[in-house]
Amino acid sequence: MDRQMISRLAHAHHPIAAPVSDGAVATLLERALAPEDEGRVLDLGCGQGGWLLRALVARPRWRAVGVDLDAAALTRARESAEAAGVQRRLGLHHLDAREFTAREPFELILNVGATHSFGGLLPTLAAAREHLAPGGRVLVGECFWECEPSSAALGSLGSAREEYADLATTVDRVVADGWTPVFGHVSSRPEWDAYEFSWTGSLAAWALDHPEHPDAADARAAADLHRAEWLHGYRGTLGFVTLLLRRD
Ligand SMILES: C[S@@+](CC[C@H](N)C(=O)[O-])C[C@H]1O[C@@H](n2cnc3c(N)ncnc32)[C@H](O)[C@@H]1O
Repeated sequence: MDRQMISRLAHAHHPIAAPVSDGAVATLLERALAPEDEGRVLDLGCGQGGWLLRALVARPRWRAVGVDLDAAALTRARESAEAAGVQRRLGLHHLDAREFTAREPFELILNVGATHSFGGLLPTLAAAREHLAPGGRVLVGECFWECEPSSAALGSLGSAREEYADLATTVDRVVADGWTPVFGHVSSRPEWDAYEFSWTGSLAAWALDHPEHPDAADARAAADLHRAEWLHGYRGTLGFVTLLLRRD
């Protein structure tokens, strides 16, 4: 079973592919969209479009563009947009986010849980800046270390210690890069637990519901492995912060 299929099944009940609750998403978007009645929002790594759909529903005069490499996730985003009646204000591009170009800049740029597509947090902010309108904002979601990672935590994530920093260092680096955090959200332990139980539980439930499917055993094994890696590995060690940024 390929990773994209696993991810789609795992996010069936938690379309935001990050440990951020619906309430926190609403609050972050409210702050991010607040200054203008109308505008354009770009999501570089939009997945199923969870952030963009919520933005378009909340703001009838905003338009949105989403970019992602996962064609099936984009199909899901399109279907959800049609169900919500916002499809005319949403453009979706099946493309590497590093290759996306646009004629006009955007008032808001999102990249939540997808900084790896640009090689890390600061390269992601540099890429976002290329598309940002004067006075615009960036909403970026990135992992950090809640505490010093054990070798079990690093092994379960397949990460190096240097891949992330602690929260203070993460924010310091962003500030040193010329950005000002104007809002932010640190995912709580209950948000992480809800996300991981939903991820592993949705995948395991699909396997139980489709015992004859040729991918059922793979799905079950992926759910079991992910749950073990989380509970025995990175739970309480990996943090997630979503920052709303402006340029100085
Ligand atoms: C963890 S998901 C986050 C999705 C979305 N931002 C959200 O919060 O629901 C990461 C997404 O980045 C996408 N992605 C990874 N590398 C990419 C690239 N080079 N260009 C575009 N999308 C990419 C993946 O397909 C996936 O949908």
